[in-house]
Amino acid sequence: MSDYLARTLAAYGQGVHTYESATKDMVPDAELDTFVALLPDPAGPVLDAGCAFGRDTSLLAARGLAVTGIDLSEPLLGRARELHPALDFRSMDVCALDFADGGFAGVWCQATLLHLKDEHVRTALGEFHRVLRPGGALFVSFKEGQGEEGIVESFSADAARFFRYQTADRVRDMLEAAGFADPDVRVVNELERYGPGHRDLNWVSAYARKRPVAARHKADPAPMVELGGHGHR
Ligand SMILES: C[S@@+](CC[C@H](N)C(=O)[O-])C[C@H]1O[C@@H](n2cnc3c(N)ncnc32)[C@H](O)[C@@H]1O
Repeated sequence: MSDYLARTLAAYGQGVHTYESATKDMVPDAELDTFVALLPDPAGPVLDAGCAFGRDTSLLAARGLAVTGIDLSEPLLGRARELHPALDFRSMDVCALDFADGGFAGVWCQATLLHLKDEHVRTALGEFHRVLRPGGALFVSFKEGQGEEGIVESFSADAARFFRYQTADRVRDMLEAAGFADPDVRVVNELERYGPGHRDLNWVSAYARKRPVAARHKADPAPMVELGGHGHR
């Protein structure tokens, strides 16, 4: 694991309850509804990638979806299991998913890839694309801006977390490069979205789908059929 990621995870580990109290009321209902409407199967399954203490994992389950939450922070996963003992939480890196190709109807990834450098964001998007079935839906969100830095916020128990900021254009380009079709990229202000007490900063949120398998055109020639044995009759 990279040093920068290990430091970010250590910050989360020291501040599980601080992070939970600061973000438990930031319920992304509108975004979850948009994401769920894009799913090719209303039952899922879906992956909550970077689930932390399981807020969105439980909201996805409450919408009737089979859901698995993954994270690399053991203390946050412990809290998720404590809060939601019936749900499936696993320790896993978004850059190395231990899931078969094409098994998920959707991947929900709220405010997680913002902790990764671009090369790792691209790897994670490639992994999301791989585990989605054709037509499967993706949601990702990042903090808007340029460059990267390690910053200390009260959210993380006064320890530095690494952030890579993204613009809407960069997010669109990375999604298309990973194979996603027509990403719908939006910029949302946190203060306007969640109200007083929240930060005046912008988020870049994107919805995208893995291309469905192309339907064969009627004029296409019939596929070659292996007859085996005596091909000429
Ligand atoms: C800002 S929190 C967002 C948590 C949650 N999705 C939410 O919206 O409240 C980022 C989360 O990503 C997790 N994380 C960071 N890098 C990760 C990685 N490479 N693989 C899995 N989880 C990661 C952190 O442990 C943390 O729980």
